[in-house]
Amino acid sequence: MKNPTKLLVFLFLIASLVSIQITLSNAQPPLIDPYAFFHIIPNPDGSITRIKEFYPIVPPNTSSNIAFSRDVPLNPAKKTWIRLYLPNKSNDYNLPIVVFAHGGQFILLSTATPQFDSFLSNTANQLHVLVVSVEYRLAPEHRLPAAYDDVLDALYWVKDKKDEWVRKYGDASKCILMGESAGGNIVYNVGLRASVLTRELRPLVIRGLVLIQPFFGGSSPKSANDGNFQAVDDLLWHMSLPIGANWNNPYFNPMYGGGSHNLDRIKGLGWRIAIAGCDGDFIFYRQLEVFKFLERRGVNVTGNFTRGFYHGVFIGDATKAQQLYQFVRGVFSPYVTS
Ligand SMILES: *[C@@H]1O[C@H](CO)[C@@H](O)[C@H](O)[C@H]1NC(C)=O
Ligand SMILES: *[C@@H]1O[C@H](CO)[C@@H](O)[C@H](O)[C@H]1NC(C)=O
Ligand SMILES: *[C@@H]1O[C@H](CO)[C@@H](O)[C@H](O)[C@H]1NC(C)=O
Ligand SMILES: *[C@@H]1O[C@H](CO)[C@@H](O)[C@H](O)[C@H]1NC(C)=O
Repeated sequence: MKNPTKLLVFLFLIASLVSIQITLSNAQPPLIDPYAFFHIIPNPDGSITRIKEFYPIVPPNTSSNIAFSRDVPLNPAKKTWIRLYLPNKSNDYNLPIVVFAHGGQFILLSTATPQFDSFLSNTANQLHVLVVSVEYRLAPEHRLPAAYDDVLDALYWVKDKKDEWVRKYGDASKCILMGESAGGNIVYNVGLRASVLTRELRPLVIRGLVLIQPFFGGSSPKSANDGNFQAVDDLLWHMSLPIGANWNNPYFNPMYGGGSHNLDRIKGLGWRIAIAGCDGDFIFYRQLEVFKFLERRGVNVTGNFTRGFYHGVFIGDATKAQQLYQFVRGVFSPYVTS
């Protein structure tokens, strides 16, 4: 992260925002233009321009001692695609399949963003899994539930087993949905939908969800740790939620109305839910709130909550990534065995 361009690009923008806030808080209330901050320009038609130099992407890696990757189309009409990651190891058959959704507040980034690409190579290698990372459609051009639809498409894509890697190396009966930040919100909502599609999705069988610092709202829109984030947070949700939606929306607040009835299905199916977070994250308390809520609903949920750090840390910090892998191995034993 010595490169200042990279620093600006990634979710550490949240972390750097924290430090800006701290420096300014003694002087006067900070005025941050969220558009300038995210390097986006709003267009009159409601779309946004993402300034390219701040959002680099990398091609798949075909020659690596960590993992090989490959891009395949998902739904050409929607311009969605998948990046697959296969560990470079000798006996890589019957691998569990991790269907992944990247972070970026629903509006930014890609599975080909260098930090996600590298995290996913390591995930394939370290957990010894085949990773199916979904390039889903972004808001505000495609508001929620578009991203949920796209990740659900990817589950059907795995089920169909038309892809050589999935057929040859994967075991669809050991499928885990994993997402970071906005991706955590996405796989939570996809999991709720998929829990009533178990017959349609066979031979794919979901064993559970991994939510890494999931981006949720809360029972109150003001529940972020740091009130200074309100403008940024509000803008992100306003760009992502369906037009006309307010905070009383299950995509924003998973606890709204007591939560989805499908949580009973998830409980009955014996899915495991792993939530990783740390209290330096500006939306940590929302994650904790969701964790406690799932516990109350009788879902088999395990939290790994540590002190300090910031939003995005599990993707960018190799030590925290190792801790995450260890946590996932524990929760998903015996499916994940490496
Ligand atoms: C592929 O991964 C290897 C690490 O195994 C790395 O050294 C190399 O730079 C990567 N190549 C590309 C094109 O990203
Ligand atoms: C896979 O990794 C091994 C080292 O573990 C390396 O020798 C080999 O070249 C890699 N394969 C490819 C195609 O990059
Ligand atoms: C989080 O998981 C790691 C790896 O399993 C473990 O070492 C650590 O003790 C866990 N921390 C908490 C607070 O659960
Ligand atoms: C709950 O998940 C743990 C792994 O985190 C597993 O060992 C345990 O068997 C699960 N409990 C039930 C009732 O399925």
